[in-house]
Amino acid sequence: MGYIKSAALEETGYVVLDRYQQELDPKEWLDIEYVDWKSSGDTRFAPLASAKGEIECNGFWNHVPPRTDKDGVWIDSQTALAPNLTRRAQEPGANVGRCRVIELQPNTYADTLYNLHQDDNNRLNPDGTGWVVRGFFNLTDDKDSFFVLRDNRTDPSVEYRIALPAGAQLIVDTQRLWHAATHPGPDPRYCLITSWTSGPELDAYIEKYNGRTNVPNVEVSQDVLDAGQAEQARRDAARAAYYAAKGQAEKTAMSEA
Ligand SMILES: [Fe+2]
Repeated sequence: MGYIKSAALEETGYVVLDRYQQELDPKEWLDIEYVDWKSSGDTRFAPLASAKGEIECNGFWNHVPPRTDKDGVWIDSQTALAPNLTRRAQEPGANVGRCRVIELQPNTYADTLYNLHQDDNNRLNPDGTGWVVRGFFNLTDDKDSFFVLRDNRTDPSVEYRIALPAGAQLIVDTQRLWHAATHPGPDPRYCLITSWTSGPELDAYIEKYNGRTNVPNVEVSQDVLDAGQAEQARRDAARAAYYAAKGQAEKTAMSEA
């Protein structure tokens, strides 16, 4: 039968929407409560919706009963402090699973390549229903930061680099594309991440905000690209050697974030 997916994401796995006027909104992400949650770098997360409405970030499949990343429960104490973020996450009218703000400490392009991972949003997702994708709304004005998306974690031949100024809005099939963000800093980056179920509501939202694909890549010098690629290979080899020495199968690249 197959999953219901957005035609707009079919070609590349992502769309960039019109930019939101982030500067007109209060900095609600500074008011909400964060928990330590490791994902693709030095991070913390502030959930707005979680499996059971508690301030925690675990995958819904790790709860009892386990379920896919749908039907997130809004956390009243958080949404009261972040009404604009909540409104924006709910605007498409698509089903929301996890919804949270990520706080990412500064990193490098090489860190990003090592951190590239695929999400696990569709674990336990019933066949024939909507595929879960993710919205990324950049909150801080990270003029030198960019999202890195690849078809293949170690192959640089397909790499999209999407700029992350305040108000940048992306929707990404994060189970298909390997992804992580490069953030030079010096201050932490904040971004609202929402799991949405694909379907007519999300398609209409993408159309309303002129979702487009194949936007120009953020320019990065070839030296930095090459050095990052070499560093990813070096760290991958070091990790493989570490697990070999312990007599364990190497853990595959980090899933879920
Ligand atoms: Fe992720």
